[in-house]
Amino acid sequence: MSKEVSLPADFAALLVAWQRSHGRHELPWQNTRDPYRVWLSEIMLQQTQVTTVLGYYQRFLARFPSVIELAAAPLDEVLTLWAGLGYYSRARNLHRCAQAVAAEHGGEFPRSAAALQELPGIGRSTAAAVASFCFGERIAILDGNVKRVLSRLLAFDGDLASGAQEKKLWAYAQALLPAAEADMPAYTQGLMDLGASLCGARAPQCLLCPVSELCRGRAEGEPARYPIKTKKLKRGRRENWWLWLEHEGSVWLQQRPDSGVWAGLWSLPLFDDEAALDAQARSLGAALEVMPRVEHALTHFDWVLHPRRAELAQAASPGEGRWVAREELAAYALPAPLKRLIG
Ligand code: ADE
Repeated sequence: MSKEVSLPADFAALLVAWQRSHGRHELPWQNTRDPYRVWLSEIMLQQTQVTTVLGYYQRFLARFPSVIELAAAPLDEVLTLWAGLGYYSRARNLHRCAQAVAAEHGGEFPRSAAALQELPGIGRSTAAAVASFCFGERIAILDGNVKRVLSRLLAFDGDLASGAQEKKLWAYAQALLPAAEADMPAYTQGLMDLGASLCGARAPQCLLCPVSELCRGRAEGEPARYPIKTKKLKRGRRENWWLWLEHEGSVWLQQRPDSGVWAGLWSLPLFDDEAALDAQARSLGAALEVMPRVEHALTHFDWVLHPRRAELAQAASPGEGRWVAREELAAYALPAPLKRLIG
Protein backbone atom coordinates (compact mmCIF):
# COMPACT_ATOMS: atom_id res chain seq x y z
CA MET A 1 0.00 0.00 0.00
CA SER A 2 1.36 3.38 -0.88
CA LYS A 3 0.34 5.18 2.30
CA GLU A 4 0.90 3.76 5.77
CA VAL A 5 -2.15 3.32 7.93
CA SER A 6 -2.64 3.60 11.66
CA LEU A 7 -5.18 1.13 12.92
CA PRO A 8 -8.54 2.16 14.42
CA ALA A 9 -8.32 1.29 18.11
CA ASP A 10 -11.97 0.44 18.80
CA PHE A 11 -12.58 -1.89 15.90
CA ALA A 12 -12.35 -5.21 17.71
CA ALA A 13 -14.52 -4.12 20.65
CA LEU A 14 -17.25 -2.73 18.40
CA LEU A 15 -17.24 -5.79 16.17
CA VAL A 16 -17.40 -8.20 19.11
CA ALA A 17 -20.33 -6.28 20.68
CA TRP A 18 -22.15 -6.24 17.33
CA GLN A 19 -21.59 -9.94 16.77
CA ARG A 20 -23.02 -10.71 20.19
CA SER A 21 -26.14 -8.61 19.62
CA HIS A 22 -26.69 -8.84 15.84
CA GLY A 23 -24.59 -11.70 14.51
CA ARG A 24 -25.50 -15.30 13.77
CA HIS A 25 -25.67 -17.64 16.76
CA GLU A 26 -27.82 -20.53 15.68
CA LEU A 27 -25.82 -22.12 12.89
CA PRO A 28 -25.27 -25.82 13.68
CA TRP A 29 -21.47 -25.43 13.81
CA GLN A 30 -21.69 -22.65 16.37
CA ASN A 31 -22.06 -23.12 20.13
CA THR A 32 -19.48 -25.87 19.99
CA ARG A 33 -15.75 -25.93 20.52
CA ASP A 34 -15.38 -29.35 18.97
CA PRO A 35 -12.69 -28.88 16.31
CA TYR A 36 -14.05 -31.78 14.25
CA ARG A 37 -17.41 -30.02 13.82
CA VAL A 38 -15.88 -26.61 13.23
CA TRP A 39 -13.31 -27.93 10.76
CA LEU A 40 -15.98 -29.85 8.81
CA SER A 41 -18.15 -26.73 8.55
CA GLU A 42 -15.26 -24.52 7.47
CA ILE A 43 -14.28 -26.92 4.67
CA MET A 44 -17.89 -27.24 3.48
CA LEU A 45 -18.37 -23.45 3.59
CA GLN A 46 -15.26 -22.67 1.55
CA GLN A 47 -16.97 -22.46 -1.83
CA THR A 48 -20.53 -23.15 -0.83
CA GLN A 49 -23.32 -21.08 0.67
CA VAL A 50 -24.60 -21.61 4.20
CA THR A 51 -28.10 -22.67 3.02
CA THR A 52 -26.65 -25.41 0.83
CA VAL A 53 -24.21 -26.62 3.48
CA LEU A 54 -26.83 -27.09 6.22
CA GLY A 55 -28.32 -30.36 4.94
CA TYR A 56 -24.96 -31.85 3.94
CA TYR A 57 -23.47 -30.97 7.29
CA GLN A 58 -26.22 -32.76 9.24
CA ARG A 59 -26.07 -35.86 7.01
CA PHE A 60 -22.29 -35.99 7.26
CA LEU A 61 -22.29 -35.77 11.05
CA ALA A 62 -25.05 -38.36 11.33
CA ARG A 63 -22.95 -40.80 9.30
CA PHE A 64 -19.53 -39.76 10.71
CA PRO A 65 -20.04 -38.51 14.29
CA SER A 66 -16.30 -38.24 14.89
CA VAL A 67 -13.05 -37.82 13.03
CA ILE A 68 -12.22 -41.46 13.79
CA GLU A 69 -15.32 -42.72 11.99
CA LEU A 70 -14.61 -40.45 9.04
CA ALA A 71 -11.01 -41.69 8.87
CA ALA A 72 -12.18 -45.32 8.87
CA ALA A 73 -14.76 -44.86 6.10
CA PRO A 74 -14.08 -45.80 2.47
CA LEU A 75 -13.37 -42.75 0.29
CA ASP A 76 -16.25 -43.72 -1.99
CA GLU A 77 -18.70 -43.26 0.81
CA VAL A 78 -17.29 -39.83 1.66
CA LEU A 79 -17.51 -38.80 -1.99
CA THR A 80 -21.06 -40.06 -2.22
CA LEU A 81 -22.14 -38.00 0.80
CA TRP A 82 -20.30 -35.04 -0.70
CA ALA A 83 -21.89 -35.46 -4.14
CA GLY A 84 -23.59 -32.24 -5.15
CA LEU A 85 -21.46 -29.96 -2.94
CA GLY A 86 -18.88 -29.55 -5.70
CA TYR A 87 -15.12 -29.05 -5.57
CA TYR A 88 -14.49 -32.70 -4.83
CA SER A 89 -10.84 -32.20 -4.00
CA ARG A 90 -12.23 -30.85 -0.72
CA ALA A 91 -13.78 -34.25 0.05
CA ARG A 92 -10.58 -36.12 -0.77
CA ASN A 93 -8.53 -33.80 1.42
CA LEU A 94 -11.15 -34.04 4.15
CA HIS A 95 -10.72 -37.79 4.20
CA ARG A 96 -6.91 -37.56 4.10
CA CYS A 97 -6.98 -35.00 6.89
CA ALA A 98 -9.18 -37.22 9.08
CA GLN A 99 -6.75 -40.09 8.51
CA ALA A 100 -3.80 -37.89 9.47
CA VAL A 101 -5.56 -36.74 12.66
CA ALA A 102 -6.35 -40.36 13.52
CA ALA A 103 -2.91 -41.77 12.68
CA GLU A 104 -0.58 -38.92 13.66
CA HIS A 105 -2.47 -37.07 16.40
CA GLY A 106 -4.22 -39.85 18.29
CA GLY A 107 -7.61 -38.76 16.97
CA GLU A 108 -7.36 -35.23 18.44
CA PHE A 109 -7.00 -32.18 16.24
CA PRO A 110 -3.88 -30.17 17.09
CA ARG A 111 -4.65 -27.04 19.10
CA SER A 112 -2.72 -24.34 17.23
CA ALA A 113 -3.26 -22.75 13.83
CA ALA A 114 0.36 -23.45 12.91
CA ALA A 115 -0.06 -27.19 13.51
CA LEU A 116 -3.54 -27.32 11.94
CA GLN A 117 -2.15 -25.76 8.78
CA GLU A 118 0.18 -28.73 8.35
CA LEU A 119 -2.82 -31.01 7.76
CA PRO A 120 -4.16 -31.82 4.26
CA GLY A 121 -6.65 -29.31 2.88
CA ILE A 122 -6.30 -26.81 5.74
CA GLY A 123 -5.07 -23.44 4.51
CA ARG A 124 -3.95 -20.50 6.56
CA SER A 125 -7.37 -18.89 6.99
CA THR A 126 -9.18 -22.17 7.74
CA ALA A 127 -6.53 -23.11 10.32
CA ALA A 128 -7.00 -19.72 11.96
CA ALA A 129 -10.80 -20.06 11.97
CA VAL A 130 -10.63 -23.43 13.74
CA ALA A 131 -7.97 -22.28 16.22
CA SER A 132 -9.80 -19.07 17.11
CA PHE A 133 -13.26 -20.66 17.37
CA CYS A 134 -12.18 -23.73 19.32
CA PHE A 135 -9.10 -22.70 21.27
CA GLY A 136 -9.38 -18.89 21.45
CA GLU A 137 -6.06 -18.46 19.66
CA ARG A 138 -5.33 -14.84 18.75
CA ILE A 139 -4.81 -15.49 15.08
CA ALA A 140 -6.27 -13.71 12.06
CA ILE A 141 -8.49 -15.15 9.34
CA LEU A 142 -8.40 -13.59 5.88
CA ASP A 143 -10.76 -15.19 3.41
CA GLY A 144 -12.32 -13.32 0.49
CA ASN A 145 -15.07 -11.73 2.59
CA VAL A 146 -12.67 -10.59 5.29
CA LYS A 147 -10.32 -9.10 2.71
CA ARG A 148 -13.23 -6.99 1.55
CA VAL A 149 -14.23 -5.89 5.07
CA LEU A 150 -10.70 -5.00 6.17
CA SER A 151 -9.58 -3.35 2.96
CA ARG A 152 -12.64 -1.07 3.18
CA LEU A 153 -12.11 -0.38 6.89
CA LEU A 154 -8.52 0.67 6.25
CA ALA A 155 -8.98 2.08 2.73
CA PHE A 156 -6.23 -0.38 1.88
CA ASP A 157 -5.35 0.43 -1.70
CA GLY A 158 -2.67 -2.21 -2.26
CA ASP A 159 -3.38 -4.57 -5.14
CA LEU A 160 -4.31 -7.93 -3.61
CA ALA A 161 -3.21 -9.70 -6.76
CA SER A 162 0.30 -9.02 -5.39
CA GLY A 163 1.59 -11.41 -2.76
CA ALA A 164 3.45 -8.61 -0.99
CA GLN A 165 0.29 -6.52 -0.63
CA GLU A 166 -1.70 -9.49 0.55
CA LYS A 167 0.97 -10.14 3.16
CA LYS A 168 0.58 -6.58 4.36
CA LEU A 169 -3.16 -7.04 4.79
CA TRP A 170 -2.51 -10.24 6.77
CA ALA A 171 -0.30 -8.21 9.10
CA TYR A 172 -3.03 -5.60 9.58
CA ALA A 173 -5.59 -8.35 10.17
CA GLN A 174 -3.37 -9.71 12.93
CA ALA A 175 -2.80 -6.27 14.47
CA LEU A 176 -6.57 -5.60 14.63
CA LEU A 177 -7.37 -8.65 16.81
CA PRO A 178 -8.93 -8.16 20.25
CA ALA A 179 -6.57 -8.41 23.21
CA ALA A 180 -8.55 -11.10 25.04
CA GLU A 181 -8.58 -14.72 23.86
CA ALA A 182 -12.13 -14.97 25.21
CA ASP A 183 -13.27 -12.51 22.53
CA MET A 184 -11.73 -14.42 19.62
CA PRO A 185 -14.71 -16.62 18.69
CA ALA A 186 -17.13 -13.65 18.56
CA TYR A 187 -14.56 -11.52 16.74
CA THR A 188 -13.84 -14.11 14.05
CA GLN A 189 -17.54 -14.85 13.59
CA GLY A 190 -18.23 -11.10 13.54
CA LEU A 191 -15.88 -10.59 10.59
CA MET A 192 -17.62 -13.42 8.74
CA ASP A 193 -21.07 -12.12 9.63
CA LEU A 194 -20.27 -8.56 8.60
CA GLY A 195 -18.85 -9.76 5.28
CA ALA A 196 -21.91 -11.95 4.68
CA SER A 197 -24.42 -9.23 5.52
CA LEU A 198 -23.83 -5.48 5.71
CA CYS A 199 -20.44 -5.36 4.02
CA GLY A 200 -21.37 -7.35 0.91
CA ALA A 201 -19.59 -7.03 -2.40
CA ARG A 202 -22.03 -4.76 -4.17
CA ALA A 203 -23.95 -2.27 -2.04
CA PRO A 204 -22.49 -1.99 1.46
CA GLN A 205 -25.12 -0.98 4.02
CA CYS A 206 -22.97 1.50 5.90
CA LEU A 207 -25.88 3.09 7.75
CA LEU A 208 -26.36 -0.13 9.72
CA CYS A 209 -22.69 -0.96 10.14
CA PRO A 210 -21.28 -1.07 13.68
CA VAL A 211 -17.89 0.26 12.53
CA SER A 212 -18.98 2.86 9.98
CA GLU A 213 -17.52 5.65 12.11
CA LEU A 214 -14.10 4.02 11.89
CA CYS A 215 -14.33 3.02 8.25
CA ARG A 216 -11.88 4.90 6.06
CA GLY A 217 -13.35 3.52 2.86
CA ARG A 218 -16.65 5.07 3.85
CA ALA A 219 -15.00 8.35 4.91
CA GLU A 220 -13.52 8.57 1.43
CA GLY A 221 -17.05 8.20 0.04
CA GLU A 222 -16.57 5.07 -2.05
CA PRO A 223 -16.22 1.96 0.14
CA ALA A 224 -17.21 -0.40 -2.70
CA ARG A 225 -13.99 0.62 -4.48
CA TYR A 226 -12.23 -1.84 -2.15
CA PRO A 227 -10.77 -4.43 -2.26
CA ILE A 228 -8.48 -3.63 -5.15
CA LYS A 229 -7.43 -6.65 -7.12
CA THR A 230 -6.28 -6.60 -10.71
CA LYS A 231 -6.79 -9.82 -12.56
CA LYS A 232 -3.88 -11.49 -14.21
CA LEU A 233 -5.33 -12.94 -17.37
CA LYS A 234 -3.83 -16.31 -17.91
CA ARG A 235 -5.80 -18.68 -20.04
CA GLY A 236 -5.96 -22.10 -18.56
CA ARG A 237 -7.64 -25.37 -19.32
CA ARG A 238 -10.08 -27.16 -17.07
CA GLU A 239 -11.50 -30.64 -17.28
CA ASN A 240 -14.65 -31.91 -15.61
CA TRP A 241 -16.96 -34.90 -15.81
CA TRP A 242 -20.69 -34.43 -16.36
CA LEU A 243 -23.25 -36.91 -15.10
CA TRP A 244 -26.24 -37.00 -17.47
CA LEU A 245 -29.05 -38.95 -15.83
CA GLU A 246 -32.38 -39.68 -17.45
CA HIS A 247 -35.46 -41.40 -16.10
CA GLU A 248 -38.64 -41.92 -18.09
CA GLY A 249 -38.21 -38.80 -20.20
CA SER A 250 -36.88 -36.58 -17.41
CA VAL A 251 -33.34 -35.22 -16.96
CA TRP A 252 -31.65 -34.66 -13.58
CA LEU A 253 -30.62 -30.99 -13.27
CA GLN A 254 -28.78 -29.05 -10.59
CA GLN A 255 -28.74 -25.31 -10.19
CA ARG A 256 -25.24 -23.83 -10.36
CA PRO A 257 -23.99 -21.78 -7.38
CA ASP A 258 -24.78 -18.10 -7.71
CA SER A 259 -21.22 -17.11 -8.34
CA GLY A 260 -18.69 -18.46 -10.79
CA VAL A 261 -19.15 -19.99 -14.20
CA TRP A 262 -22.79 -20.36 -15.30
CA ALA A 263 -23.95 -18.82 -12.03
CA GLY A 264 -27.55 -19.75 -11.27
CA LEU A 265 -28.06 -21.76 -14.48
CA TRP A 266 -29.35 -25.33 -14.45
CA SER A 267 -26.84 -27.94 -15.44
CA LEU A 268 -25.80 -31.55 -14.99
CA PRO A 269 -23.94 -32.64 -11.82
CA LEU A 270 -20.28 -31.83 -12.33
CA PHE A 271 -17.30 -33.82 -11.03
CA ASP A 272 -13.61 -33.01 -10.78
CA ASP A 273 -12.58 -36.45 -11.94
CA GLU A 274 -13.95 -39.60 -13.41
CA ALA A 275 -13.53 -41.63 -10.21
CA ALA A 276 -15.82 -39.27 -8.29
CA LEU A 277 -18.45 -39.50 -11.01
CA ASP A 278 -18.12 -43.28 -11.08
CA ALA A 279 -18.63 -43.45 -7.31
CA GLN A 280 -21.86 -41.49 -7.59
CA ALA A 281 -23.05 -43.56 -10.58
CA ARG A 282 -22.32 -46.79 -8.73
CA SER A 283 -24.36 -45.67 -5.74
CA LEU A 284 -27.29 -45.12 -8.13
CA GLY A 285 -26.81 -48.40 -9.96
CA ALA A 286 -26.32 -46.46 -13.20
CA ALA A 287 -24.69 -48.08 -16.25
CA LEU A 288 -22.74 -45.28 -17.92
CA GLU A 289 -22.43 -44.55 -21.59
CA VAL A 290 -19.43 -42.45 -22.67
CA MET A 291 -20.55 -39.48 -24.79
CA PRO A 292 -18.38 -37.29 -27.01
CA ARG A 293 -16.55 -34.57 -25.09
CA VAL A 294 -17.81 -30.98 -25.11
CA GLU A 295 -15.34 -28.10 -25.50
CA HIS A 296 -16.34 -24.68 -24.33
CA ALA A 297 -14.22 -21.51 -24.36
CA LEU A 298 -14.68 -19.11 -21.44
CA THR A 299 -12.85 -15.85 -20.79
CA HIS A 300 -10.17 -17.31 -18.54
CA PHE A 301 -9.99 -20.92 -19.58
CA ASP A 302 -10.99 -23.57 -22.02
CA TRP A 303 -13.37 -26.01 -20.47
CA VAL A 304 -13.39 -29.65 -21.52
CA LEU A 305 -16.44 -31.56 -20.30
CA HIS A 306 -16.75 -35.33 -20.46
CA PRO A 307 -20.41 -36.37 -20.42
CA ARG A 308 -21.39 -39.79 -19.09
CA ARG A 309 -24.99 -40.74 -19.70
CA ALA A 310 -27.25 -43.25 -17.94
CA GLU A 311 -30.93 -44.17 -17.96
CA LEU A 312 -32.01 -44.89 -14.39
CA ALA A 313 -34.59 -47.57 -13.65
CA GLN A 314 -35.72 -45.62 -10.58
CA ALA A 315 -36.11 -41.88 -10.00
CA ALA A 316 -33.38 -41.67 -7.35
CA SER A 317 -32.28 -38.24 -6.09
CA PRO A 318 -28.51 -37.83 -6.43
CA GLY A 319 -27.85 -34.90 -4.09
CA GLU A 320 -29.33 -31.48 -4.73
CA GLY A 321 -31.37 -30.94 -7.87
CA ARG A 322 -34.56 -32.10 -9.53
CA TRP A 323 -35.98 -34.24 -12.28
CA VAL A 324 -37.15 -32.08 -15.16
CA ALA A 325 -39.43 -33.51 -17.85
CA ARG A 326 -38.05 -32.91 -21.32
CA GLU A 327 -41.11 -30.90 -22.33
CA GLU A 328 -40.43 -28.56 -19.39
CA LEU A 329 -36.75 -28.00 -20.21
CA ALA A 330 -37.60 -24.81 -22.08
CA ALA A 331 -38.61 -23.21 -18.79
CA TYR A 332 -35.08 -23.70 -17.41
CA ALA A 333 -32.04 -21.55 -18.04
CA LEU A 334 -29.50 -24.03 -19.41
CA PRO A 335 -25.94 -23.22 -20.51
CA ALA A 336 -25.73 -23.26 -24.29
CA PRO A 337 -23.40 -26.30 -24.59
CA LEU A 338 -25.77 -28.30 -22.40
CA LYS A 339 -28.76 -27.34 -24.53
CA ARG A 340 -26.89 -28.59 -27.58
CA LEU A 341 -25.90 -31.79 -25.81
CA ILE A 342 -29.26 -32.92 -24.45
CA GLY A 343 -31.61 -31.04 -26.78
N1 ADE B 1 -18.34 -19.20 6.28
C1 ADE B 1 -17.16 -19.69 6.70
N2 ADE B 1 -17.20 -19.93 8.02
C2 ADE B 1 -18.42 -19.60 8.46
C3 ADE B 1 -19.08 -19.61 9.72
N3 ADE B 1 -18.43 -20.03 10.80
N4 ADE B 1 -20.34 -19.18 9.77
C4 ADE B 1 -20.96 -18.75 8.67
N5 ADE B 1 -20.41 -18.71 7.46
C5 ADE B 1 -19.15 -19.13 7.35
